[in-house]
Amino acid sequence: MSSVVVITGSAGLIGSEAVRHFAALGMDVVGVDNDMRGYFFGADGSTQWNLQRLVKEVGDRYTHHSLDIRDREGLDRLFADLGSNIGLVIHAAAQPSHDWAAREPFTDFDVNAVGTINMLEATRRHAIDAPFIFTSTNKVYGDTPNSLPLVELETRYELPEDHKWYGGIDETMTIDNSMHSVFGASKVAADVMVQEYGRYFDMPTAVFRGGTLTGPGHSAAELHGFLAYVMRCVMEQRTYKIFGYKGKMVRDAIHSHDLITAFEAFHRAPRVAEIYNMGGGRFSNCSHIEAFAIASQITGLEARTEYVDQARQGDHQWWISGTGRFEEHYPDWKLTYDVPAILREIYEANSEVWKS
Ligand SMILES: NC(=O)c1ccc[n+]([C@@H]2O[C@H](COP(=O)([O-])OP(=O)(O)OC[C@H]3O[C@@H](n4cnc5c(N)ncnc54)[C@H](O)[C@@H]3O)[C@@H](O)[C@H]2O)c1
Repeated sequence: MSSVVVITGSAGLIGSEAVRHFAALGMDVVGVDNDMRGYFFGADGSTQWNLQRLVKEVGDRYTHHSLDIRDREGLDRLFADLGSNIGLVIHAAAQPSHDWAAREPFTDFDVNAVGTINMLEATRRHAIDAPFIFTSTNKVYGDTPNSLPLVELETRYELPEDHKWYGGIDETMTIDNSMHSVFGASKVAADVMVQEYGRYFDMPTAVFRGGTLTGPGHSAAELHGFLAYVMRCVMEQRTYKIFGYKGKMVRDAIHSHDLITAFEAFHRAPRVAEIYNMGGGRFSNCSHIEAFAIASQITGLEARTEYVDQARQGDHQWWISGTGRFEEHYPDWKLTYDVPAILREIYEANSEVWKS
């Protein structure tokens, strides 16, 4: 019986939500996470607290391996031991930051690209029928979205309503011939390889190209974790640096819970070599200015922001995910959290931890 789910990045935002969700469905969860987020982003970023919480909450259904996904032999041994008991693989471990990647390009590529082929190959050798879900990113489209005909409104940039992507950018946008950042390029390598294992080896692989993924499980750090870091800054009265686009850049935000229900839908009815843009879409999106206004309303505190008049290289001025392809394949799936609901939950979950 294929009752085991292997989850990499299991102490991170997406991984930990997946651990809870699939354990609650009665699967045994094997987690792989070496707390490398602490190395990337320092103490703010460490996911150790989340791991301890998980172990307490999930109990015997969860087994943790502090294994590095760059350790090819270690992964192969783990998969060989579990063999055909593996019914699902969720690969969410990564170096997730744009800015950090340029500091150590080799480390970024080794984790994001080589780590992913290590996972694919271990799955092919030992559990070829298991659906393989990969968390890619909208950064695979590089800065192509910045060529959209955006108009400036009072609190955000916006596409004209009659534009074909007003409802969200779909998977037909080219991923080629643009600036991706070092991070975006290592994710492209992984994204294409996951598709290739699907097509070439006929494996049930899916690439989810996320917009902003968020939720209370995020270890909010300056270089990664947009809405959680917005809320943390307001609650702790830290100054948040806004880089470029007058605070009017637009992001869609999906709560980790809504992403994991999408993973569950794929797990129940897998397909081969799929790609899906996945995010909050028109239902859940905001600009910096709008996010801070909501956070101030929730906390009753003024936001402290500093504006740096230079956008991050390759950063999107406007991104809303078109989730139509996924919804067509999985019509029962629905988004349940919008930006105010997400911010409120992050606030409530951290009210004892983040204090000014
Ligand atoms: N959060 C977002 O806004 C966002 C947006 C688009 C895509 N994604 C992608 O979704 C995935 C999950 O993101 P997240 O926000 O949960 O990230 P996260 O940093 O919260 O979690 C990733 C986890 O992976 C672990 N990890 C990193 N390198 C590792 C290694 N070499 N070996 C083992 N474990 C390692 C980290 O310690 C961390 O706990 C990533 O692939 C990321 O690129 C995230």
